[in-house]
Amino acid sequence: MTTPFILTVSNRKGGTGKSTTSVNLAAEWAARGTRTLVVDLDTQGHAGLGLGIAPPKGSPAAHDMFRHPTFELLSAVTATSWPSLSCVPADPLFDGTDACRDVSILARQLRRIEVAAAFDVIILDTPPSLDFVLTNAMAAADGVLIPLLPHILAAEGVKQLSRLFFRIATSANPGLKMLGLLPVMVNARVNHHREVISGVTRQFGAERMLRGIRSDISLAEAFAAGQPVRSYAPKSRGAMDYHLLAEEIPRLWRRPLPLPSSQSRASA
Ligand SMILES: Nc1ncnc2c1ncn2[C@@H]1O[C@H](COP(=O)(O)OP(=O)(O)OP(=O)(O)O)[C@@H](O)[C@H]1O
Ligand SMILES: [Mg+2]
Repeated sequence: MTTPFILTVSNRKGGTGKSTTSVNLAAEWAARGTRTLVVDLDTQGHAGLGLGIAPPKGSPAAHDMFRHPTFELLSAVTATSWPSLSCVPADPLFDGTDACRDVSILARQLRRIEVAAAFDVIILDTPPSLDFVLTNAMAAADGVLIPLLPHILAAEGVKQLSRLFFRIATSANPGLKMLGLLPVMVNARVNHHREVISGVTRQFGAERMLRGIRSDISLAEAFAAGQPVRSYAPKSRGAMDYHLLAEEIPRLWRRPLPLPSSQSRASA
């Protein structure tokens, strides 16, 4: 049994396309047969909403792991309407009071043998705040994907996240890789967008820059409809760009997209 690949989608700035990227990347990989889990670590609960999930109040949620030492993540896994695509929803009422702030709680949950047997890829949608939840995500992940807006302040959010990355990669999680920077909501005809992207490329290196996601209202509409864009508007620019991103990332982490082994397929 191989361990699932764990990707955290993070940026210290808010509104940079983290939830949109988590949902649509997950839907692309699930559509290829990869058993994909989205863990919604942001109490705003946007990843769950984007996947059309509205669990009843009080159901098990991702944030329960920070409250109860005996909590089991699998108890909160919720199926979506799309095959191979599941979500652990967020708890919108979680405020961190009385939470256990150990940096390795999520890592321990995700490395459990039952979780490893159930999923090939796990995507962590993270909050923009620099708190113990984001630190847990960085400590649990194999790779970090940073969506960023082509805006003058883009480099600042990335720098702040990079500092956290180096802190975690030199302590709790030495295997952590910076997978790439993903410009989102890009309009190539806008000079300012091109200038910001070249500036960030110079600062962080061309090998870390992904092709990016163009600005497309279909992505916002799909999200509001609780659907991945590949279902809501399969011919849209957004659907095309997330399709290409889903091909690009496995090339960056230099391993093929994990698929269920024949053994787990047979026993499913
Ligand atoms: N490529 C895009 N084109 C147009 N709109 C987009 C695109 N990507 C995301 N959006 C919209 O931008 C807004 C912010 O996106 P999203 O919620 O994914 O960001 P976020 O980083 O998760 O935000 P937060 O920090 O609040 O969690 C949403 O309304 C979303 O629908
Ligand atoms: Mg979000």
